[in-house]
Parts: sequence; C-alpha cells; structure tokens
Amino acid sequence: MYKYDHIDQTLVDQRVIQFQNQVERRLNGTLAEEEFRPLRLQNGLYHQRHAYMLRIAIPYGLLSSKQLRTLAFIADKYDRGYGHFTTRQNIQFNWVELEKTPDILAELAKVEMHAIQTSGNCIRNITSDAFAGVAADEYVDPRPICELLRQWSTLHPEFAHLPRKFKFAINGAKEDRTVLLCHDVGIELKKNPAINNGELTADIYAGGGMGRTPILGSLIKQGLPWQVLPSYLTALLRVYNRFGRRDNLYKARIKILVKALGPEEFARQVEGEWANFHNEAKQSKDNFTQAEWERVAKHFTKPNYKDLTELSDEQLQSHADSKLNASEKIGFTRWLERNVKPHQVPGYASVILSLKPHGTAAPGDATSAQMNAIADLADQYSFGELRVTHEQNLVLADVEQMELLNLWRAAKNYNLVLPNIGLLTDIIACPGGDFCSLANAKSLPIAKAIQERFDDLDYLHDLGDITLNISGCINSCGHHHVGNIGVLGVDKDGEEWYQITLGGDQGNDASIGKVIGPSFYANEIPDVMTSLINTYVEQRTADEPFIDTYRRLGVAPFKEAAYRNNGKHSKESSKGAIA
Ligand code: HEM
Ligand code: SF4
Repeated sequence: MYKYDHIDQTLVDQRVIQFQNQVERRLNGTLAEEEFRPLRLQNGLYHQRHAYMLRIAIPYGLLSSKQLRTLAFIADKYDRGYGHFTTRQNIQFNWVELEKTPDILAELAKVEMHAIQTSGNCIRNITSDAFAGVAADEYVDPRPICELLRQWSTLHPEFAHLPRKFKFAINGAKEDRTVLLCHDVGIELKKNPAINNGELTADIYAGGGMGRTPILGSLIKQGLPWQVLPSYLTALLRVYNRFGRRDNLYKARIKILVKALGPEEFARQVEGEWANFHNEAKQSKDNFTQAEWERVAKHFTKPNYKDLTELSDEQLQSHADSKLNASEKIGFTRWLERNVKPHQVPGYASVILSLKPHGTAAPGDATSAQMNAIADLADQYSFGELRVTHEQNLVLADVEQMELLNLWRAAKNYNLVLPNIGLLTDIIACPGGDFCSLANAKSLPIAKAIQERFDDLDYLHDLGDITLNISGCINSCGHHHVGNIGVLGVDKDGEEWYQITLGGDQGNDASIGKVIGPSFYANEIPDVMTSLINTYVEQRTADEPFIDTYRRLGVAPFKEAAYRNNGKHSKESSKGAIA
C-alpha cells in the first residue's frame, strides 16, 4: 500500500491548518456562508438535511487496518457511531459538527487520509477494482497507475475549476468491476506484446456518466503508452475546460460535450490539443518516467504469501464439514459460493464482507464496532489491508483458504457474513431523503422493505445474480440506471413516488435501464418487485440470469406483471409512504 512521503504529508498537514483558520473565521462571522461554502466543499464538507456531512476519500478503495480504526474512532467521537461507504470508494459521516471538522481532518492526516477533492468541480477520488492486485482475471495491477494519477491530479491548478465534477475509474482486469463506462474518463489498462514494447498501455473511454442524461463512455484512444497518460489527459481536460457548457449546470458534464461533438470529433480535438505540447520534437515534461513508476510501484509489491496448495471448493467444504453443525454447514457453503472470490495465488482467496444485512442497517453502513472488528480481521487474516467495493461492501483481499472457516466464524459475530453478494438484496442505495437535501424521495426505507420482503436465502440463491440499485433523485448516486432493476425516487406534487427501470447492467455488457411506465407509491414497491421476480422465475430457462431473461423477452411481460395489481391509483390520492 502506498505510504505518504514528506510532500504528501506536508500537503495534508497544511490543509488542516488552513481549514482550521477558515472554520474559525466562519464561526466568528468574518466569513459569510457564501464565502465559506466553496472552501468547505474543497474539503468534502457538505451541508445536508439535518447536519454537516463529511466525505473522506479512500483512494482507489484501499484502506489499512490502522486507517479503518481511525474511521471508527471518528465515528464514535465526532459522529453517531457509524459511517456510510459509498459507490465511489469514499466514506461519509452524516452528523458532524462544523467546529469539530478541523479536528477530524487532523485525525485523518495522522493516518495519511483527507477529504480533499471529494467535492467540487475538480478531479474526484480515483476509483478502481476492489480486487486490484489479487483478482484471478487481472491483466495488469492498476494500483501504481491509480496512485501516479492521484498524485498528478491532486491540487492540479489547471483543473481545480472545471465546468463540472470529473470522475476517473481505472480497470486492469478482464471483467470490469469499476462501472468504467459510467465515468467521465474510464481507463482500461492492458499489455499487448505488439504495442509499447509489450509494456503497459491504456484504452481511454470518455463521456460516460449517469445523472439525468445517462450515457455510456465511448472509446476515444487505444494503446496509449502509460508514460504519456498525464499529457494525453491534460489535453483531454483542456478540451473539456474550453468547450464544456459552463452556462448550464445540467449540460456541464463532459458526457454532454462528447455527445454534442460526437466521440470521433472529440477524440480529434484532443489529439490536436495534445500535439501542441507532445510531439516528435518535444515531449511533455508532465509525462511519467520510469523512475517515477519505480518510486510508486514499490509500494504495491506482493505481500509475503506462503507457498500453499490450491484447494477446490469440495476440499474446503470437506475440511470444514467436521467442524460445523447442520445449519452452519448451509451458511458456510453459501458464503463460499457468494462471498469468496478466486485469487491469483494458490491457496489464497478474497472475501467480501457484506454491508447489506437484511433490513437492519442501511446499505453501505458500518458501525464503529464493525469497523474495529474488520480492522482486527484484516490484521489477522489479510496482511492488515482491506478494500471498499463500489457496491458498498468491504473486501479482505488476501485470505488463506485454510483460514476461511475461522474468518467466517469471527466475522459472523459482527453480522458481516450474509451470503448475499450479487443477489437481489445486495442493494446499492444512496442516502436519499433521510439525509440528502437534493432528494426527491427516500431510498433507505425502500431498500429495507425490499430486503425484508426477500429475506429467504434459499429463494435468493435460487434467483442468482440480480442487481438492484436505488437513487433518491435523478442525480443517480445510487446507480439506478445500471441496476438490472433500478428504482428512482421522483417527486410528484410534493409526494414521494418511485419509477422502475429494467435492463440496466454494469460490467463488460454495461447498459442503461429503461423506464417501464408510470411511477408507484412507496408501499407498492415490494409487491412490484415480487411481480417482476415472479415473472422472471416463470419465464427463465435453466440457469438463465435475470438480465438475460429480460434481454430475451423485452420489457412486455415484466411490465404487464408490475401493473397488474399496482400503479392504478389516481394521482390525487395520498397514501403509501413507508415509514
Ligand atoms: C449526500 C450528499 C450527496 C450529494 C449532494 C450528491 C450530489 C450529486 C449530484 C448533484 C450528482 C449529479 C451530477 C451530475 O449529473 O452532473 C451526483 C452524482 C453521483 N453521485 Fe452523488 N451526491 C451525494 C451523495 C452520494 C453518495 C452517498 C454516493 C454513493 C453512494 C454518490 C455517488 C454518486 C454517483 C455514483 C453519481 C453518478 C455518477 C455521475 O454521473 O457522476 N453520491 N451526486
Ligand atoms: S441520488 Fe439524489 S438523493 Fe441520492 S444522494 Fe444523490 S443527490 Fe442525494
């Protein structure tokens, strides 16, 4: 894991002092709220429905156990004993007090963390594969490039006031686990013997995003040598900075520019800009050198793995069988199936700790007790590190297969082993109307009601892979556009309603879901879900996942079932909120 050098540390320490001074001036009235607002947003401090909310960056989702303990300490001392892990590999605290925020930043700085660039129209926290460096299907470990680009983009003066926020995702594996195509820029790392002497190259996708105009990114450059990433990205951002729509907030994201120009023309403009400062005669001084690579990449060497033999699932199962009673056996088998992922190194596995208990906590929330326990588990079983997934779960990436049973037992005490990863109840949800002042409707009670309705693990396992994502407004923080089933909170005449989309998907076959028709009351949503799922069960062929059945049949049978008993209310009647 990357360790700060004196430059990184000085930068965050200075920021703490600067922010202390800004908060003092705000509190004594020297700074008006309009003057303070841009300053606090530069430190991830929002003002939400009930209180200030602090968003802290977890660069490319990588955390040490020490950092997690600090987050638990902050949750206890400065918040209400929990934190919310987000789809962009950040953590948010929902109840902080303004006067305490400099102290929180000071605690974070002690463990090489901060909240810089987690808000505002700048390059936000760079996200990546939560299984980086360990995934069995990985071509290239993306972490050195993530870190190099983190350093390049941190406080980059030219890109501090872009037309709108700017999000990078970086992937180096066969399967995309980063929602690459829904980012302003998606960077796919590859190694091809025919290009760049077989060294690392990048394919660049631009103009993806969700929000009110969901668009999948377009490929604008292939085989870019890793060394020239900064100069190419500088050119790309300059084109956006110059032509992005600053006149209209809703049209300001790069996706609107790429769509308006067309991806080919956008790519041509970037090439033209790039040629100005990176050509045969002169190479941009911004480019990455081998020495820079070595300085950063040495932090991402493999941990001290033991020389172990790979165990099959059957071997693991039979090793555990004698130590488990009948009901434990079912739980452990299901957990192996859903929450344990293959590893590059024989004898090791990666484990996903589910932050999606059925109805008892909001998706992505972890209590301070859970955070401390997870930090201990990371120390004991996974070289003291963990990762945040964009689905709002946590990963212990390097667990010995022979320790899986012990880990399962220990994590079970903290309600972290529900075997629902990738299943209907592994819901992505934004904070919605419970916290967010932009919300049209609540998200969290809808997630809870669905989890309570589909609480039968036998049934969930039989249904198999289904993604269900919920956003409280069209800003789409809960990724509803790319859920196989999406739920979007909408406001009609001051009441909370919910629109359903079907057919969205993340990963290599990413697609944007389609709205099935008029919206529903909150209390209809569990029944609507039952209708959609029953339709799938009736129509599926053997082993056919939900998304494939939807793609084969189209929306008609699902729509018919959803509206058979629901969605018939008149617009005037007022009922149906879920408490
Ligand atoms: C609570 C305070 C939050 C506020 C005020 C907020 C605001 C916004 C806004 C305005 C957008 C739309 C941007 C656009 O279309 O140009 C957006 C998008 C997004 N936000 Fe949030 N958000 C919040 C929390 C979250 C949380 C908790 C998550 C993760 C669970 C999140 C993840 C995202 C993602 C993934 C997108 C869509 C991707 C994109 O197109 O940029 N946000 N947010
Ligand atoms: S989707 Fe809307 S309601 Fe949900 S967090 Fe984003 S801005 Fe708030």
